[in-house]
Amino acid sequence: MAGIRKVVFPVAGMGTRFLPATKANPKEMLPVVDKPLIQYAAEEAVAAGADVLVFITGRHKRSIPDHFDKAYELEMELEAKGKHELLKAVRNILPKGVHCVYLRQSEALGLGHAVLCARPVVGDEPFGVILADDLIRTERAPVLRQMLDVYERERVSVVGVERVPESETHNYGVVDSVTRSERLSQLRGIVEKPSRGEAPSNLAVVGRYLLTPAIFEELAQTGQGAGGEIQLTDAISSLLRREEVLAWEFAGRRFDCGNKLGYLQATVEYALDHPELAAPFAEWLRGVRDRDA
Ligand code: UTP
Repeated sequence: MAGIRKVVFPVAGMGTRFLPATKANPKEMLPVVDKPLIQYAAEEAVAAGADVLVFITGRHKRSIPDHFDKAYELEMELEAKGKHELLKAVRNILPKGVHCVYLRQSEALGLGHAVLCARPVVGDEPFGVILADDLIRTERAPVLRQMLDVYERERVSVVGVERVPESETHNYGVVDSVTRSERLSQLRGIVEKPSRGEAPSNLAVVGRYLLTPAIFEELAQTGQGAGGEIQLTDAISSLLRREEVLAWEFAGRRFDCGNKLGYLQATVEYALDHPELAAPFAEWLRGVRDRDA
């Protein structure tokens, strides 16, 4: 199996939609039930076979490295108190043999710029990108793993896409593509935040990418795009001139945890599936529903 070894996590955004919660903390540290978003994302990368996790951090640079670091004092305290389950949860945040690399994006110049910051570590290999605020629940394989299956057959870049209502396409990168098979299509074009009525389809790019290293050359040439930011979408559009790019309509349910409603929905759904919380939480929810009926 060829696979990918490295996954990039851009976590240097401003998170303005979630202020003031994101004033002193990146949104990727918001917890859904008992794990921060970035931990779900790291687990997805590891499930796809990655052993180097590359975090592109911004002004809140400490909390994510702290989360993945060993916490000696906490571990000693839990051990002394005989809290073995919690000790296990704290110790096993990442499996052994997985390495974290932290790079700084000194200015939030856009997602494309954040990905370009990873170039010295990623080098000349295909790699994954996960936007942790797009939390995706799947029944079977996690989304990056699904996309890797496509990559292993086709050896070209793959972007994760989802059908969104036409009224929402202006918030996303949207693809123009030709269907190849169920869930898989080939890109003819891609446009970031198309004006209302001008989207080429309702297939929107969400926070999962599997990219060939040629993207770095395109990113290095990409100027400011929508919103004055250096957009990954624009670099993918240029990449299409030299390589095929595929879109994978993943199986799973996505929660946009960068906005408050999506975050609340994720919290409810993950709580209803949590081994300890499911029953009491469902009972409490029924009470809320009946009270408000
Ligand atoms: P968003 O478009 O969600 O922007 O970024 P944002 O700034 O984080 O959030 P809002 O819109 O102000 O609420 C998409 C992803 O790209 C990362 C973000 O951390 C997020 O994971 N990003 C964005 C960077 O790492 N650097 C940037 O310069 C911009």
